Amino acid sequence: MSVITNDANWWKTASIYQIYPKSFCDSGSKGTGDIQGIISKLDYLQRLGIDAIWLTPVYQSPMIDNGYDISDYYAINPDFGSMDDFDQLLAEAHQRGIRIIMDIVVNHTSTQHHWFQSALGDKNSPYRDYYIWKDPVDGGIPNNWQSKFGGSAWELDEKTGQYFLHLFAKEQADLNWENPQVRAEVKEVISFWAEKGVDGFRLDVINLISKQQDFPNDDQGDGRRFYTDGPRVHEYLQEISEAVFQQYGSVTVGEMSSTTLEHCQQYSSLDNKELSMVFNFHHLKVDYPNGEKWTKAPFDFIQLKQIFNHWQTGLNGKGWGALFWCNHDQPRVVSRLGDDKHFRVESAKMLGASVHMMQGTPYIYQGEEIGMTNPGYTSIEQYRDVESTNMYDIMVNEQGVPHDEMMAILAQKSRDNSRTPMQWNHEEFAGFSKGQPWLQIANNYTEINAEQAVADTNSVFYFYQQLIKLRKEVEVITTGDYTDLYPSHTAIFGYQRQSQHQTLICLNNYYGDESECMLPSDLDLSTATYLLGNYPLQGEVSQRQVLKPYETRIILFQS
Ligand code: GLC
Repeated sequence: MSVITNDANWWKTASIYQIYPKSFCDSGSKGTGDIQGIISKLDYLQRLGIDAIWLTPVYQSPMIDNGYDISDYYAINPDFGSMDDFDQLLAEAHQRGIRIIMDIVVNHTSTQHHWFQSALGDKNSPYRDYYIWKDPVDGGIPNNWQSKFGGSAWELDEKTGQYFLHLFAKEQADLNWENPQVRAEVKEVISFWAEKGVDGFRLDVINLISKQQDFPNDDQGDGRRFYTDGPRVHEYLQEISEAVFQQYGSVTVGEMSSTTLEHCQQYSSLDNKELSMVFNFHHLKVDYPNGEKWTKAPFDFIQLKQIFNHWQTGLNGKGWGALFWCNHDQPRVVSRLGDDKHFRVESAKMLGASVHMMQGTPYIYQGEEIGMTNPGYTSIEQYRDVESTNMYDIMVNEQGVPHDEMMAILAQKSRDNSRTPMQWNHEEFAGFSKGQPWLQIANNYTEINAEQAVADTNSVFYFYQQLIKLRKEVEVITTGDYTDLYPSHTAIFGYQRQSQHQTLICLNNYYGDESECMLPSDLDLSTATYLLGNYPLQGEVSQRQVLKPYETRIILFQS
């Protein structure tokens, strides 16, 4: 019997856990995770207290981009299991009150998809117009648009002499959303999964689906301004939403690459015409100097606060955002913004609190709840990610960047940093698999693992459990408005949330030295209590707050 409630707004007080199946848990000795592995960990997830799982793609795929290259939307990749395994996962998750959100990748398909296979080399194929083809310009590529994974975004179809567009790997061909048949197929795919009882969808790079139709050369950049939040994107989302999401009551989260607040207010507007909520990545570009990812750089703390302020105040009352630090495309946050050597537990908790006390829906990426770190790879052979290996080729072999410099950049920026297998226990292969894992496990698994975390009441795991619980119990976390209290403080990120009856303050020291701040003088300290912190907290709340290295304090005031 399902214990899922039918509250349409459940996701506003929910916390969602992201699973990257290939690296989560292997039920056998293949070295890659699978659906039965996920089922075996549902009790662990229930204990953490999460409300839903976002499952990254498990569809049939040649796995060039680990499942983001789908070759059959209606089948499960046998490496992950069968459709029966999937149905069992859905049923067993629902029994535990956990919903399932599927990843839908419809900006592009794998070039192995039968639509593309039919379209390739045949201008008369009924599927030719499912993709984007252009004649050569001056005997070469149609324009200078760049693939997000490096190199041109165009690939030649030798037989017909035309190029097809791929904003990602050349094995991921962009779909032509101008074609109503493509949109009809997308609706059918999503309905199929909704009909099975799936509770929602995460829509991959969904703000890239509408391209400016004259495909101009970009004399200022890589072409993104001609397809990001493109001309018909809102119309397309409304069409899909009306036909599917609204019919099934699906929760939806759109992954919005390089988007703007104004567009996100519309994507996630409260009338629910497009999507429930949006992911944006601006706060994760604070260590990209001048927008350049492939550099080794410290993060800009003041800018980080400015970005949160912009999005928190801008979405309040207008739309809804996803709150997150980590996913399968981002390095581990404790290595990125915290101190994974001297204050790993403290900084992992502080970073968790900093986003969990904001307005929105928090997402926790597997392993974040135990403070997993980047693995610190030192050899290019250790990397598997198509983006990392492409960039190594381009930067070292074509542009002459020294090998050592590139290795330092990859150790900071590679997507493989977060894709290392989940560390379950201190045994061989970290309890992830009985065989050699597909990607090397971080050496620290003997100390950092889920078994250890569950046994230690002071662990990051129990801190996240508290954060998840607070969101359900303390109304101001969901409803309150947001004020940055110390925008120019060089160490403390402190913000206030305010609703009619409650005030909450979240103070976070982002550095390894003690630091202090003053609470706003208009607050009545006699009503204040410490709700949660990562160091022991006692006694009355005083106006002067002195924070230890990476300390977080959550303070609640009642009116
Ligand atoms: C999204 C996914 C990423 C993938 C890309 C192309 O950004 O999160 O992993 O490579 O889309 O599908």
